[in-house]
Amino acid sequence: MRIDVVSIFPAFFDALEVSLLGKARGAGILDVRVHDLRSWAHDRHRTVDDTPYGGGAGMVMKPEPWGEALDSIVADAGDDPAAQHPVIIFPSPAGEVFTQATARELAEERHLVFGCGRYEGIDERVFSYAATIGRVRLVSLGDYVLNGGEVASMAMIEAIGRLVPGVVGNPASLVEESHEDGLLEYPSYTKPASWREREVPPILLSGNHGAIATWRREQQIERTRDRRPDLLAE
Ligand code: ADE
Repeated sequence: MRIDVVSIFPAFFDALEVSLLGKARGAGILDVRVHDLRSWAHDRHRTVDDTPYGGGAGMVMKPEPWGEALDSIVADAGDDPAAQHPVIIFPSPAGEVFTQATARELAEERHLVFGCGRYEGIDERVFSYAATIGRVRLVSLGDYVLNGGEVASMAMIEAIGRLVPGVVGNPASLVEESHEDGLLEYPSYTKPASWREREVPPILLSGNHGAIATWRREQQIERTRDRRPDLLAE
């Protein structure tokens, strides 16, 4: 999978060099390219923002650097037709909410582009232009406001990237996780069996795999009812 990221703070994405995603990049499973939006701004100060038409607080990101950035990334996608009409994701608190289902869907794609806005947002015309060269999705991490799209993009890249075959060494570990079956994950324990007067539930030491599976399922349902009743309603 190819992932292009456009940001005025490319250093946010340095962390993609470490851990499982870093390994996957090294192995050629994930081809991640981070671009500085300012390289497509041509005035002396490499300006990427301006005051909003109609007045109001804050600054808006100018359309021209975004247009050039997206054109250049799409033109550079090579001969792969699937990479030539990428999904272009703009993280935004005004977007659809990102879930595990979104991650699963996007993990099937060949080419994702993340456009990280800052300030009060990106000139609205950029989204309709982007829709002529890719499939645009405005996506929110949740109902709170971040300073820009960088941290949201990082979270999404990790959630999507780990579902790409070969990124996580043991694919079985992807199955028994929170949200994969609509429930929260069951509790996990390791040695020692007794620690600071706290015991591992005896069922887990019983060797009875059927009873353990039943207990884990019950724990999942109980936890979900306590912590996230909204998920059970769905
Ligand atoms: N940018 C600012 N806030 C955001 C959020 N909650 N999700 C995605 N992108 C954002």
